[in-house]
Amino acid sequence: MITVTMLDALRAQVRGWRQSGQRIALVPTMGNLHAGHYSLIALARQHADRVVASVFVNPTQFGPNEDFERYPRTPEADAAGLDEAGCDLLWLPSVDTMYPLGVSAAVTVSVPGVTETLDGAHRPGHFDGVATVVARLFNQVLPDAAIFGRKDYQQLAVIRHMVRDLAFPIDIVGADIKREPDGLAMSSRNQYLSEAERALAPLIHQTLQVMRDGVRAGRPRIEVERDASVVLAEAGFMPDYAVVRTPELAEPKDAVPGPRVALVAARLGSTRLIDNLEFVLD
Ligand code: PAF
Repeated sequence: MITVTMLDALRAQVRGWRQSGQRIALVPTMGNLHAGHYSLIALARQHADRVVASVFVNPTQFGPNEDFERYPRTPEADAAGLDEAGCDLLWLPSVDTMYPLGVSAAVTVSVPGVTETLDGAHRPGHFDGVATVVARLFNQVLPDAAIFGRKDYQQLAVIRHMVRDLAFPIDIVGADIKREPDGLAMSSRNQYLSEAERALAPLIHQTLQVMRDGVRAGRPRIEVERDASVVLAEAGFMPDYAVVRTPELAEPKDAVPGPRVALVAARLGSTRLIDNLEFVLD
């Protein structure tokens, strides 16, 4: 695996691959990689001849009271893991490379609609930061495909909207959620959990399953959502939301069959966890 920190070197390498007819897939990350990320590398390999992973803790997607400073940074372990996972190139831009005019003068990509609900409402500016950095990564790497985990369900919807509207010639691939044996979705933030919180955390996945089963059994969605929030709150979570939505994140009508997604975001102590479960209502 090659590690590249300068944009000129990245472009030269990618140009060489492209000129020899090879397809390139990008796996954007913020580092502190786990088995979930490494599975994205394996998936990227199915969509391209060359796999580029970026590691960049993006300051513009963290709110003023969020965990940008304490976000875990593990560059050596990330590089070793990516190498082992079969990544061809690790792109490690600095903040100055990513935002050459400075963060305050940066051109911002703002996606309407899908960003206005759920995490968009609870984390103002978060998705502008995500769309802005992903657009920059796309322009830097010029990939044919890019892989995003489905755990960040709304993020994936935002990226798809941006790619379609700005006509990025990139296939966006959603990767299935990787879970711990007890059902907890893998996340870099899981390591913030105390032992007691970690023992409680799988309740999110269990609650999502109960929500799915309730909707499939014909219970009104509003009741299912309310009960899920109560269960989480009584167990010690502070839920931001526990909802059932259409794939476009609109509120579905109870009687209308079709694809659904149950989504939960909840704080456990100082850690905010998100998870979701896609299903079909027949
Ligand atoms: O999902 C993430 O890790 C980040 O939001 C991303 C897509 C790498 C952008 O910083």
